[in-house]
Amino acid sequence: MLWMKRAFWILVVVLLAVQVFRPSRTNPTTDPKHDISAALSVPPDVVAILDRSCNDCHSNRTVWPWYSNVAPVPWLVVVDVNHGRNALNFSEWGMRNPEKNKEILGEICKEVTEREMPGLMYPLMHTAAKLTDVDIQTICRWTQAAQGRPAGGESSKHAARAFDVCQPSGKSNRIKRSDSNYRRTCSRS
Ligand code: HEC
Repeated sequence: MLWMKRAFWILVVVLLAVQVFRPSRTNPTTDPKHDISAALSVPPDVVAILDRSCNDCHSNRTVWPWYSNVAPVPWLVVVDVNHGRNALNFSEWGMRNPEKNKEILGEICKEVTEREMPGLMYPLMHTAAKLTDVDIQTICRWTQAAQGRPAGGESSKHAARAFDVCQPSGKSNRIKRSDSNYRRTCSRS
């Protein structure tokens, strides 16, 4: 049973090392003038949704759960949050290129419509983060207004169509996933 003893001690050392060298959880302070709310009007119902479902990964106001301090969890959580902030950070909105931001607004609507965000794992631990159909429509109405596109324009037609077709609770049964129309409307390009 010598090998078991060895394996046990190796495991202990690895777990300790992972605990000691865990990536640190940061909430960098940012100038409020860079916050998205300084650049765009964000209605209270949208603020509430972003707070509930997005800000832990897409802002510098992350509420770190206690278990994110216990290795190996920080390796998953911290890396995911850093990755999320890199892709989109509502606290640093004003520090990024306005053209890029306009694109990101479109991405926000697309990601939530396709139920890609807030992901599968996060809502398991944060049940309030799960988006309802109404939440999704609220977000898309806001992003379209913020992009300066009138409701009922091309992009809102696309959003309405994607909303019907792509999400599980929508009318997706009418259209096959292999259909090129489905792919065009729902693929993450
Ligand atoms: C658990 C962490 C987490 C949560 C919660 C989360 N995201 Fe993300 N998000 C990520 C990560 C990581 C990425 C980058 C990798 C990827 O695209 O999958 C990302 C990418 C994105 C992108 C793509 C940005 C780009 O460059 O095109 C958008 C848009 C987005 N998220 C919107 C949202 C919105 C809106 C919510 C809330 C409804 C949300 N996310 C909630 C982690 C998260």
